[in-house]
Amino acid sequence: MTDEEYYTFIQPYTDAKQMLLSRLDVLNHHLYEASDNCPIHYIQSRIKRKDSLEEKLIRRDLEPTMENAKDHLQDIAGIRVICYFVDDIYNLVRRLKTQNDLITIRESDYISQPKPNGYRSYHIIIGVPVYCLDCMEYFPVEIQFRTMSMDFWASMEHRISYKKDRKDKEKLTPILKKYAGMLTRIEQHFEQHNDIGSIE
Ligand code: GTP
Ligand code: MG
Repeated sequence: MTDEEYYTFIQPYTDAKQMLLSRLDVLNHHLYEASDNCPIHYIQSRIKRKDSLEEKLIRRDLEPTMENAKDHLQDIAGIRVICYFVDDIYNLVRRLKTQNDLITIRESDYISQPKPNGYRSYHIIIGVPVYCLDCMEYFPVEIQFRTMSMDFWASMEHRISYKKDRKDKEKLTPILKKYAGMLTRIEQHFEQHNDIGSIE
């Protein structure tokens, strides 16, 4: 894949990501008007770089071509939404799903069912319609919804251990899992003071 091919290839993914960022921004404003509290603390987003796109395809025993990227990767465009409370996450997901020009391609609720290592987050891959001059095509965007404490744990775990071959990994895993439990409990303590609740 040449640099030029890569930039042409990612354009519609960038457009799809921008559209979802605007939708999230609008939802955040409306929920703020309705409850005097913003559900979203902050948002990060990225487009997978050419080298990491190729590396992921090779890791999956696939030729690093644009066709394979299109057919096999659903996280070329990624958004991470950091919320205050777990309720905010479910509320935002529910409202996004009522926008019926968007399609839900796949979702994983690692909040109600954390990964065995303690990872928590709500992942959803949304198909966003991108209109060309005379056609429309859905492009996938992966959104990861997290609270601040979920993001703290995931960022630290990513730095320390995720996809790394550490000699002490066996020892580290239960320790990180214990920290995940501690952070969940702290989050629940804060939840007791959130008297706002979700807006119907
Ligand atoms: P990838 O091939 O890594 O994209 O995984 P997947 O397609 O099987 O999807 P999954 O939902 O498991 O993970 C998608 C993304 O979530 C990852 O790229 C990470 O950003 C994040 N993630 C998932 N599991 C973990 C974890 O255990 N620790 C951390 N720090 N991040 C995770
Ligand atoms: Mg991924």
